[in-house]
Amino acid sequence: MADEDRVRLVEVGPRDGLQNEKVEVSTETKIALIDRLAAAGFAAVEAGSFVSPKWVPQMADSADVYRGIDRVPGVAYPVLTPNLKGFEAAMAVGAEEVAIFGAASESFSRRNINCSIAESLDRFRPVCEAAADRGVRVRGYISCVLGCPYEGRIDPAAVAEVAAALRAMGCYEISLGDTIGTGTPRETASMLDAVAAVVPVAALAGHFHDTYGQALANIWAAYDHGVRTFDCSVAGLGGCPYAKGASGNVASEDVVYSLGRSGIDTGVDLDRLMVASRFISDRLEREPASRVARALASRAL
Ligand code: HMG
Ligand code: MG
Repeated sequence: MADEDRVRLVEVGPRDGLQNEKVEVSTETKIALIDRLAAAGFAAVEAGSFVSPKWVPQMADSADVYRGIDRVPGVAYPVLTPNLKGFEAAMAVGAEEVAIFGAASESFSRRNINCSIAESLDRFRPVCEAAADRGVRVRGYISCVLGCPYEGRIDPAAVAEVAAALRAMGCYEISLGDTIGTGTPRETASMLDAVAAVVPVAALAGHFHDTYGQALANIWAAYDHGVRTFDCSVAGLGGCPYAKGASGNVASEDVVYSLGRSGIDTGVDLDRLMVASRFISDRLEREPASRVARALASRAL
């Protein structure tokens, strides 16, 4: 297969998934999950969040998690860092990639990180500068690219403006988040038209939550628009603490199955991914949200 057709998958379950869990997930379980996901072949496994433990208590042990993982060469383990305090904490454990996270909606920005969009960009700039000094890669997220829980529909021009700002400060990639999963394939295409006019499509990633069952369709729409990096979450874990009712990201098993059967290489081994999926579903004592995982489990019986 041609290189330009391959897809890079960023597994975000251990962060985006577990940050929203009601039950306490032990540090040891998080480490074991991350190691299983790296073994499955993901290019990147998001390993935690260096944010205020008062805001997101589930990520309070990210430093211990990061120290405990068995880092596989060639796999990236990004962590979220909203400000310099988080960045320094990430550096203290040896992180080599961080992610800053803004929003295309003013209301969501205030709820999620307690500042306006403009203020958030002012906070991110020194993080990017410090990262550049240390040779650390920075990924940028934009939330609410296809809808906001407080403002409804979002103008693609607002997404493009934040994307251009994140790119200008040095983010190697901008992950476009449909935080509440309301977007549809045609809206995805319109939003991408606006963003790709200011940031090269090769530097864009899709981050689709599956609340309305649109995530896989949106991935294909984005793929047809040239996007080749997608975020996904094992067993469809997750949601967002500041977006009530949002369900998890698109399930990794569903993405790997859909792309793989269509002849698109992701580097992820579905059998090994199923090991990780069963592991975390057992620990959380629930069925995976992934349709593919459930189908494969019943076929095995
Ligand atoms: P703030 O209250 O405005 O910050 O919160 P502050 O600077 O005034 O500090 C307040 C307290 O937080 C102080 O502690 C600081 O030390 C502490 P106190 O004196 O009260 O004891 N603090 C920190 N502690 C640990 N690590 C830090 C840190 N910074 C300050 N880095 C802040 C601002 C950004 C810190 C807060 O709003 C926050 O932590 N928000 C995190 C929200 C979050 O993690 N949301 C989920 C991730 S985003 C997401 O899921 C969307 C995504 O998946 C894409 C999509 O789907 O859309 C990425
Ligand atoms: Mg998310």
